[in-house]
Amino acid sequence: MFLNDNLKIFSGSSNPALASDVCKYLEIPLGGAEIERFPDGEKTIRVEDDVRGRDCFVVQSTCDPVDEHLVELLIFLDCLRRASASRITAVIPYFGYARQDRKDEGRVPITAKLVANMITTAGANRVLAIDLHAHQLQGFFDIPVDHLAGELVLSKYFRSLKINNLTVVSPDVGNMKTASRYAAYLGGDLAIVHKRRLSGSKVEAQEIIGEVRGRNVLMCDDIIATAGTVCGAAGLVKERGAEKIYIGATHGVFATQALDWLAKTQIDQVVVTDTIPQNKISKKISNIKVLSVAAMLGEAIKRIHRNESVSNLFNNI
Ligand code: R5P
Repeated sequence: MFLNDNLKIFSGSSNPALASDVCKYLEIPLGGAEIERFPDGEKTIRVEDDVRGRDCFVVQSTCDPVDEHLVELLIFLDCLRRASASRITAVIPYFGYARQDRKDEGRVPITAKLVANMITTAGANRVLAIDLHAHQLQGFFDIPVDHLAGELVLSKYFRSLKINNLTVVSPDVGNMKTASRYAAYLGGDLAIVHKRRLSGSKVEAQEIIGEVRGRNVLMCDDIIATAGTVCGAAGLVKERGAEKIYIGATHGVFATQALDWLAKTQIDQVVVTDTIPQNKISKKISNIKVLSVAAMLGEAIKRIHRNESVSNLFNNI
């Protein structure tokens, strides 16, 4: 693939394997940068390549430890801006704080907006992200956002499984549109679980609209964090007579007890992507599969660099 020397890709420390796979897809070397910590705990970054006038991309998921990865991204952006990069794109495969996107009670922040402001102020000219939890988050940035969907990778995998008697289940109302696209693409029926969130870590799956008895179920979501949502919904569909249960989610956050809950729930396969590194996960849970978003990100970066359409990427889904 022909890409000129004008394109530079750098990696923060959150997901170097993904950044390197993106570079492999694009057949270019990863940009050199030293990320160091001073004895007092502060971080500093030195970019080793000449970036003056170059089109630069920094790959950094703001996953756990969220604040550390976020600050590192901000420092990286500032560093590239001061080194006279001509355009800087923050490539954020997983955007932490995305779910803090509204003030639904008094005296709480809208941290997703705060983080978007910080990324822009630090020097990003564009953002490339995957499944930002809600599409309207794009509007939190006053710079262009290219928003990719993990669905592009996940749905192809599920199609390859040729699951018969399929019902696609949305584990909550928010994911209904995505679930209906999966159902159309995979040729299945659609059902929805009515969920009530009791707290950050507790949810209750209350009722199902749609038929799951005797059906193989695919449940799709953007994030598995505590796994309360998918485990609650999986328990309910099993109770109502579902056969096999597959779960597909873009971001495997797997906070706190998530893996224990998933291991205890009757689920045939959990499929996530590598927007967050999952190197240690298979040791803790055997029925998990990790798909890579590297080719999708690489293709999007190539198109952004060449000023080609990114939305055309989705035309074959
Ligand atoms: C909710 O709106 C999201 O789509 C996910 O269902 C939710 O964030 C998952 O969180 P948890 O795994 O903690 O239930």
